[in-house]
Amino acid sequence: MAEETYYIDIHSHYLFAVDDGSPNIEQSLAMLKQAAAQNIAIVQATPHATDLTNDVVSKQFLENFSRLQQQVRKAGITVDILLASELFFSPHIYEWLQYPWATFNNQKKYLLFELPLYKMPEGVGDFIFQCQLKGIHPILAHPERYIYLHRRREVLLDWNRQGCLMQMNAGSLLGQFGQEVGQFSRQMLQAQMIHFIASDAHDVEFRNYEVLQRSRQQIEDFLPRWYLDQLYFANAEKALAGEKLAPLKADENLFLKQKPFWEKLKHRFIKK
Ligand SMILES: [Fe+2]
Repeated sequence: MAEETYYIDIHSHYLFAVDDGSPNIEQSLAMLKQAAAQNIAIVQATPHATDLTNDVVSKQFLENFSRLQQQVRKAGITVDILLASELFFSPHIYEWLQYPWATFNNQKKYLLFELPLYKMPEGVGDFIFQCQLKGIHPILAHPERYIYLHRRREVLLDWNRQGCLMQMNAGSLLGQFGQEVGQFSRQMLQAQMIHFIASDAHDVEFRNYEVLQRSRQQIEDFLPRWYLDQLYFANAEKALAGEKLAPLKADENLFLKQKPFWEKLKHRFIKK
């Protein structure tokens, strides 16, 4: 019999009525049922923390999460749920560190943060440095989705050297965010720049939990087994326990010399 593969998902939006993810508790339960059916053993809720996040919002996160925990137990859904957050990179990011959901398991060891999608912000390197001073490992959510970084590979390498970890969206490998993102994702994986693959699920239809298994099937033939295990399970397990990840050395030369997507297209559209 084929060996079962299990997953730990550190990034998704199943917590109801707090962001653009699940709108109500019924949807949250439907999402978690789907997660369990996809062999996801642990799924961490990461509602967006934005400039509107304050004590009232924080209380709401905690209340909704505890209501959901009770309902998950009642419904007998076999998945462990945890609460953290996806911190939007803003001047307020340091203020949120006081909240119990700001870091994984409130251990002050790992946090997940995202950048604006269309404009490179100032001060990311400094934020990474400040996290390190506090003993926190920052994890950048879906680096492959920031198109402005596709032309600035050296910036990603700098952050990587500083110790910033990177989490890719499984859907990026399935073309959910376009071909350019898909190709850049594969290149990042080939160069071992990525530490986690997560669902970033928002619903049970398009951005759902099935993407984990499906994406793994897509990349199984070009990545070694030990790396796949780190990406989908082992690194997440360590991060949730507040432990150090196994070291991963990015292949910087390979990453710098990989051809960008538009270079390949050029030959098709530009007449010589
Ligand atoms: Fe997200």
